[in-house]
Amino acid sequence: MICKWAQTADGFLIPAGGQQWITGQSARTHVHEIRRWCSGVLVGVGTLLADDPLLTCRLGVSDVPIRQPARLVLDSQLRTPPECQLVRTAATSPVLIATVAESAALKAGRAQKLVHAGVEVLELPRGREGVNLEALLDELGRREWTYLLVEGGARVLSSFVYGQLADELLVFINPQMSGGEPGRRPRFDLAAVRDRMTLGAEYVTEFGPDRLYRLLVPHG
Ligand SMILES: NC(=O)c1ccc[n+]([C@@H]2O[C@H](COP(=O)([O-])OP(=O)(O)OC[C@H]3O[C@@H](n4cnc5c(N)ncnc54)[C@H](OP(=O)(O)O)[C@@H]3O)[C@@H](O)[C@H]2O)c1
Repeated sequence: MICKWAQTADGFLIPAGGQQWITGQSARTHVHEIRRWCSGVLVGVGTLLADDPLLTCRLGVSDVPIRQPARLVLDSQLRTPPECQLVRTAATSPVLIATVAESAALKAGRAQKLVHAGVEVLELPRGREGVNLEALLDELGRREWTYLLVEGGARVLSSFVYGQLADELLVFINPQMSGGEPGRRPRFDLAAVRDRMTLGAEYVTEFGPDRLYRLLVPHG
């Protein structure tokens, strides 16, 4: 269970002033390398609605077949739009939407459209913040998934990190950039995580102007 995020120096998950990226090209290429060896990449429906991401491994190597991870969305109310990029590319690499079983009947129409588009809808018990993550991880374990890359956003990172479900944190920090936007200020700051939790060994690598902090999370 690897939780990965990119943050500005002041702990925001989006850059100020309408810029698209926090990190530079070499850090972003490294994320694609990581996706390549993961069983799956996970985001919350908040990120899906905000960014419409693809979550594929795109390394630009045309003559080498690229292994694609499955893509997984936490979405208790099935708000994932059938026309989003993830759903439209479900035939290329698998898309799973983890939702809450109790309201499945109410969402039957929406579920049907997603399934028709090639998405697998996983019905799980309700947890404190939405989908019950322990039940989800049990299911992924039964499927023999190994590495799961949790790519955010803030609410999902908080559930995994503070729920003691992460084994490793991968945090890209652009030390030159400040972030946030009025009315849209998702924040998840490694400094705050360090204050709240005991973290283990830490390794730092430079990717151009960005730094990657790799931290192991001790269990037990
Ligand atoms: N810099 C980065 O690395 C990075 C990465 C990703 C996203 N972002 C940014 O982060 C922002 C989105 O953050 P966000 O916090 O709104 O969205 P998010 O964390 O991606 O999604 C949160 C939603 O996921 C659903 N969910 C279901 N089960 C959950 C669980 N167990 N724990 C937590 N959430 C669960 C909830 O919606 P339901 O109640 O409807 O299920 C919840 O509102 C965007 O601005 C995006 O650009 C930045």
